[in-house]
Amino acid sequence: MNEVSAQSSRRRLSGHAVGIPPRHIDFDFNSDSPRYFFANNATATLFFAMLSGFFPPGERYFMESVRHFRERITDERLRAGIAGFMGQEAIHGREHDLFNALLAARGFDMATPERTVTAALKLLGKLPPSTRLAATTFMEHFTALLAEQLLTDEEFRARADAELITLWQWHALEELEHKAVAYDVYETIGNSQAERAVAAVASLAVLLPMLGITWGWMVYKDGQLGNLKDNVAGLNMLFGRQGFVTRILPKLPEFLGKRFHPCQHNTQALEQTWRDALFGAGGTLHARYRNREAA
Ligand SMILES: [Fe+2]
Ligand SMILES: [Fe+2]
Repeated sequence: MNEVSAQSSRRRLSGHAVGIPPRHIDFDFNSDSPRYFFANNATATLFFAMLSGFFPPGERYFMESVRHFRERITDERLRAGIAGFMGQEAIHGREHDLFNALLAARGFDMATPERTVTAALKLLGKLPPSTRLAATTFMEHFTALLAEQLLTDEEFRARADAELITLWQWHALEELEHKAVAYDVYETIGNSQAERAVAAVASLAVLLPMLGITWGWMVYKDGQLGNLKDNVAGLNMLFGRQGFVTRILPKLPEFLGKRFHPCQHNTQALEQTWRDALFGAGGTLHARYRNREAA
């Protein structure tokens, strides 16, 4: 092997090389979007505001749990996948922090979701490192299902503010692009079906009550708890028979299967559709994609 090819074989692949490019986007959050940016409904809007408050600490937890095992990974493509995953999650956290600052400036109590999710993740942080990673793979499974629902649900699109929804669409696309990374790392360190089940139960036991309390508190602080018309309509849009979250739930137990892998559920065509819709010529974020050249 001559020196040049030896150098190129040592050159590390980037996330871009394996279809997981960390994209820097100039979002315009100072638009005149309505206060209740989802369906003009306080209850549902505050649910999404709460999720946005959860994301930055949650994504840091995901990154930490993968970083713990990074040095054990020798496969070049998976190492590149990890680099892409880290880059994408770091930028998601940064952009949601900016979005959360806008929501806080509008008077939403954004400090509470950040505080409660940090406390919940601190509890999950007491699990052994491999179980923490298993919990991350479970939460990434949920996130990928949420992302797929968000990108396919026409009703969701019709109800959300057209400007702000681009943040969620970009985030959802990248969640699908990197959905297998944490799981592939977990497979490398020894995938245990029993540990996955424990991690899923622990995550739900810690996160679900925290989610319900935080959401109720945010609606209360906004003066909308007891606004029955709004509360019932919001709950119905999310958790009714055809609700946004309800439609995700039947797919959640797939995670417990012996041979589960995130890619069993093929979303490649959906991802391509959205790469074109967001970043292709004429795409909604085409002009705001700052580091396209790196791709
Ligand atoms: Fe993310
Ligand atoms: Fe993710």
